[in-house]
Parts: sequence; structure tokens; C-alpha cells
Amino acid sequence: MKKVRDHYFHRAKQEGYRARSVYKLQEADSKFGFLRAGARVLDLGAAPGSWSQYAARKVGRKGKVIAVDLQRIDNIGPNVLLLQADISSVDSQKLLAAAGSDCFDVVLSDMAPKTTGNRGVDHLRSIGLAEMALDFALRLLPQGGGFFYCKVFEGGELAAFRERCRECFKTVRTFKPKSSRDESVEIFLMCSGLRA
Ligand SMILES: C[S@@+](CC[C@H](N)C(=O)[O-])C[C@H]1O[C@@H](n2cnc3c(N)ncnc32)[C@H](O)[C@@H]1O
Repeated sequence: MKKVRDHYFHRAKQEGYRARSVYKLQEADSKFGFLRAGARVLDLGAAPGSWSQYAARKVGRKGKVIAVDLQRIDNIGPNVLLLQADISSVDSQKLLAAAGSDCFDVVLSDMAPKTTGNRGVDHLRSIGLAEMALDFALRLLPQGGGFFYCKVFEGGELAAFRERCRECFKTVRTFKPKSSRDESVEIFLMCSGLRA
């Protein structure tokens, strides 16, 4: 992935975050207000860890963040549990046990495939990851509540994925944070209120 050394890169360094991508979560949280004190948060595709750092600060000592990634993540803090794994092999019951709860309040996914340069292939792989993240959200969020914030690369299958989210959640919004570069194909879906 190309490293962008812009305003957000320098700001992340100054504020002690591991990646500029933290602002893609912070902007959404400022707008939609879903990271609350005491919340249980599942962060899929969490390395190097800036979203988990931010979530850990927001949920506080009584909250918990479970951070999952293919890559190793350096320790973040006492309320963050790190799991190095492919999410396709992760058991949702184990995640609940690790969180010490019968559900999560928030499921985040900033997962991205290794890009090939072929936009169509990258889009389909991104949709595949987003579908897996959605499955976790459906299994782990409480009926009638919960938040699912998910990155997807734009392309032909996005409308169908958004429609599937609409069938599962009461509210689905498409969000392009200012910190996401205009030329980037990524966009985010903010889903809330899991339907029964
Ligand atoms: C853009 S980075 C995430 C950045 C992170 N949100 C942060 O703020 O530090 C995307 C991550 O998705 C992870 N990823 C991709 N496929 C995955 C999979 N199948 N299981 C777990 N993690 C995956 C990659 O390893 C990569 O670290």
C-alpha cells in the first residue's frame, strides 16, 4: 500500500496513532456517535491498530476491543485483545467468550485485500471481505440495535451488497470521510439497528 504523507499522516503521528486511517473512523464516529463508553467492539482487519487505538480510548476501561488481523499487531492496551488470524477461520463464539459478553455493540471492518492493480478483481475481493464482516455483524450484534461500519471498494457489486445491508439493518448510510482520498475507490457503509 502506498504511504500517503499528507496532513492526516502528520496529525496521526502527533496524536500517537499508528496510521492516518484512524480519521476514517473518527470522522464517522463524530457524525454518527456509535463508539460509547463501556461498549464491546470487534475490529476486523485491525493492523497496524489505529482504529483499535481510537476505539479503546472511546470505550474506556469498562469497554473491550477485540482486534483481528492476518498480521501481528503490537500491544495497544489493557482493554484491547489482539488476535492474529484470517477472519474466515475465526469462530464467533470464541470472540464472544473473549469479549466476556453475549454480544458486541459495534462491528468494524477496515479490511482490504492485497491489491492486484486490476480494479475489478480488487473490488470483488473487497466485497468478499465485506460479506464476511457482515456475517460476523449478523451473528454478534444485538437484535434491534448495534452498529456495523464497513469499508468496501466501489464497483459493480456494491449496490447488491448495500441492498443486503438494507435488508439486515434499519438504517444504512454511505459515507466517504474527508480523510479518504478522492482518488481512492474506498467508501464506507454505516449500518445501525439490526433487524429481528
Ligand atoms: C487498511 S488495513 C487496516 C488498517 C487499520 N484499520 C488501522 O487503522 O490500523 C487492512 C487490513 O485488513 C487485513 N485483512 C485483509 N484480509 C483479512 C482477513 N481475511 N482476515 C483478517 N484480516 C485481513 C490486512 O491484513 C490489513 O492489515
